[in-house]
Amino acid sequence: MLDASKNKLLTGVGPGTPMGNLLRRYWMPVAAVSEFDTQTIKPVRLLGEDLTLYRDMNGAFGLVGRHCPHRCADMSYGFVEQTGLRCNYHGWLFDRDGRCIEQPYEDVAQPDAHFKDKIRITAYPVELRAGLIWAYLGPQPAPLVPNWEPFTWKNGFVQIVFADVPCNWLQCQENSVDPLHFEWMHMNWSVRLKDKGGPYSPRHLKLAFEEFEYGIVYRRIREGMSEDDPMWKVGRVCLWPNALFTGDHFEWRVPIDDQNTLSVTWCFSRVPKDREPYVQEQIPAWRGPVLDPESGRLISSHVMNQDFVAWVGQGTIPDRRNEHLGLSDEGIILLRQIFLKDLEAIDRGQDPKATVRDSDVNRCIALPVADRKNLIEGQTLEQIARHPLGGGQLSDYVFQAGQPREVRRAYAKAMGLPE
Ligand code: FES
Ligand SMILES: [Fe+2]
Repeated sequence: MLDASKNKLLTGVGPGTPMGNLLRRYWMPVAAVSEFDTQTIKPVRLLGEDLTLYRDMNGAFGLVGRHCPHRCADMSYGFVEQTGLRCNYHGWLFDRDGRCIEQPYEDVAQPDAHFKDKIRITAYPVELRAGLIWAYLGPQPAPLVPNWEPFTWKNGFVQIVFADVPCNWLQCQENSVDPLHFEWMHMNWSVRLKDKGGPYSPRHLKLAFEEFEYGIVYRRIREGMSEDDPMWKVGRVCLWPNALFTGDHFEWRVPIDDQNTLSVTWCFSRVPKDREPYVQEQIPAWRGPVLDPESGRLISSHVMNQDFVAWVGQGTIPDRRNEHLGLSDEGIILLRQIFLKDLEAIDRGQDPKATVRDSDVNRCIALPVADRKNLIEGQTLEQIARHPLGGGQLSDYVFQAGQPREVRRAYAKAMGLPE
């Protein structure tokens, strides 16, 4: 359990809150680059702040406040210029650093007043990496956007998948260090959802959790597995501060505000060996539904939708005084302890865990990857089909409901499958 004050401390993400300050020390993925193939401006909400993400006519991305400092018009209805974003109400123009660089009427009527020099709009840095647009809302100097090892892998078909999950981010991230739910929520519940009574999946016999530089590794032994199994020897990663990394995909739980989370998946599918060399021209992005429009209930057919059922079901912000944590929850206790320790660290002026500032380190940050050899060297299509981790993915995008047909087609083409 967690007392009410610690629960409030760990779940509050708005500006000026302790955890909001901590999370602002990290780059957050907020959108996909390919979303800007068809639009130039997108309203975003991140860590309780309403913002406007845009790409100007020079191709530069900017992230500014949602409301114009003149008379508060909505900048997401503005229009981009060669440089910067212009408010559609009276034409004030702002560059990506937040400077006001044009005030059409004031510039003509009183050019010597330099009124625009006194005006700034909130502006935050953005960077592009791995097809994602990353935002940083924290103090300068900003750390580096981590270059996780899979971002450097070749011959992969990558897709980015979003979902709007109506609950606080912390319970979503606690799920990143909860191996036991795999057996019940994904394996056994899926059996029952198909109206079958069994057989149930092998039981978990042993769990281990261990902090490392970039998060917590969790390991599992299930019935029929030995300690030589990659799930024990290598494990999986609760990646700091707000992601799960399974070896072939990342899932970030990006706090929109205290009550909402943006789920962002970056999923790497290694193409078969005979499809090499494969160079992906554009990383597609799509947004999957969370609710079934017919029943109004949460969708439960796909892996992450099942996770959403757990997270949303816990309540918008669970009252953690009502929990009863057991041995399977050791990782969750550790995760909370690390955040509480890091709140003290940033008070002392130190960087929190997993802050990357060394560009040599950031050339490629290796993570525990159970299936690294196959993901890097590749397999034949027949081997992929037989593989316990990858096989099911050939016939469907198993992680989330709602994959658009054109993304499926692009995936099938990359993999050399019939559409
Ligand atoms: S409100 Fe934006 S220019 Fe007037
Ligand atoms: Fe899960």
